[in-house]
Amino acid sequence: MNIEGRNITLNGEIYAPGDKSISHRAIMLGSISEGITTIDNFLFSDDCMHTINIFKEMGIEIQVNNKQIQINGVGLYGLKKPDKKLYVGNSGTTIRIASGILAGQNFSSTIEGDSSIKKRPMERIIKPLSIMGANIASKNGNPPLTINPSKSLHSIEYFQKIASAQVKSAIMFLALYTKGETKIVQPSQSRNHTERMMKYFGIDIKEEKNTIIINSDTKAKGKDVFIPGDISSISFFLVGALILKNSHIIIRNVGYNETRIGIIDILIKMGANIKIFNKSKKNNEEIVDIEVRASKLNGVEIKGDIIPKLIDEIPIIAVACACAKGKSLIKDASELKVKESNRISAMVNNLSNMGVNIVETSDGMIIEGRDRLMANKIKSYDDHRITMSMIIAALKAKGMTNIDEISSIGTSYPDFLNTLNKLINYK
Ligand code: S3P
Repeated sequence: MNIEGRNITLNGEIYAPGDKSISHRAIMLGSISEGITTIDNFLFSDDCMHTINIFKEMGIEIQVNNKQIQINGVGLYGLKKPDKKLYVGNSGTTIRIASGILAGQNFSSTIEGDSSIKKRPMERIIKPLSIMGANIASKNGNPPLTINPSKSLHSIEYFQKIASAQVKSAIMFLALYTKGETKIVQPSQSRNHTERMMKYFGIDIKEEKNTIIINSDTKAKGKDVFIPGDISSISFFLVGALILKNSHIIIRNVGYNETRIGIIDILIKMGANIKIFNKSKKNNEEIVDIEVRASKLNGVEIKGDIIPKLIDEIPIIAVACACAKGKSLIKDASELKVKESNRISAMVNNLSNMGVNIVETSDGMIIEGRDRLMANKIKSYDDHRITMSMIIAALKAKGMTNIDEISSIGTSYPDFLNTLNKLINYK
């Protein structure tokens, strides 16, 4: 794809697409709850369709009427043995969280994905789930995973080494198949959508600081779920509007969960003109509208407990830093190396090719901001968040940028380019 960066501004009003993390969880929890679950504003992206498909493979009736999803939940023990291997495509969230459910079944299953998934580390779920009694075989810690019925499952107290919502959620789902209380202690808080949704479905969950306690004696009952907009997906427009002169946009219906809004805190710290308004709450998740105006940004330091609250936004935050005044430092983010691509080296290579003085470190990067980026040939690394970040960077670049491949965008935001085109104006 070729993108010419000439005097572009972003202007107008858009609706945020449904949140990916919450969409996955609504399908999974709806499937193993008792009774009907409906889902509005579901994200119909490649990743979320894989979650729908694997539960259909296990006999769940999932219907789409007029964009609303209806699931006939079968309870914890109603899933059927799939006829074939469960295929998750590129979706790390699906393979990791669904493994917690599969480990509780009395049938065997194999779960696998595309070439990127085959390289993603699974030891982090295999370890805690095995301590709970799960029977999981992997290929040297990577997918495919073959999950056989357990002889006996039991609750645990688990201290997570890395703050990971996928690992925490896998444990929480398997906890529903045990007796008693499971306790998870997090090193710092990762996104808490599973906790919030399980509570909404009637499961007894307590949260104390970074500790979660699930009482498995309670059952989940189907519910009506509204999926808030995805702050990760709209972060590309947030940064685009900030760095492109004279931009002014309003984004409606954005999920504003405190464990997801690290990017807002950081951008405001950098000097961004961002207003949050129209606050409301649906099924335990906060929703807001956001207004953004082009702003002069300054360099910033990003490290420590805020990292899990903006982990998926670091590629686009790196673009903001590349256009800010002065130096920025991002550290404590080595998890980025094991996402859909190694997002540290992907961003360092791409931004450096666009003329930015940027250095890769063992757990992050150091970025020297500049006024204008330089167009060049850049790579998507088949990673949706790298691709969308670099499309925004290209709008700020002088000349014609070429991105080798853009199809990965469908993973999380199939409508990204249409929405971007609606906002683009030429001065
Ligand atoms: C997710 C958790 C995060 C995030 C991923 C989605 C989730 O991963 O990066 O895009 O939906 O639980 P980790 O759990 O590996 O931190």
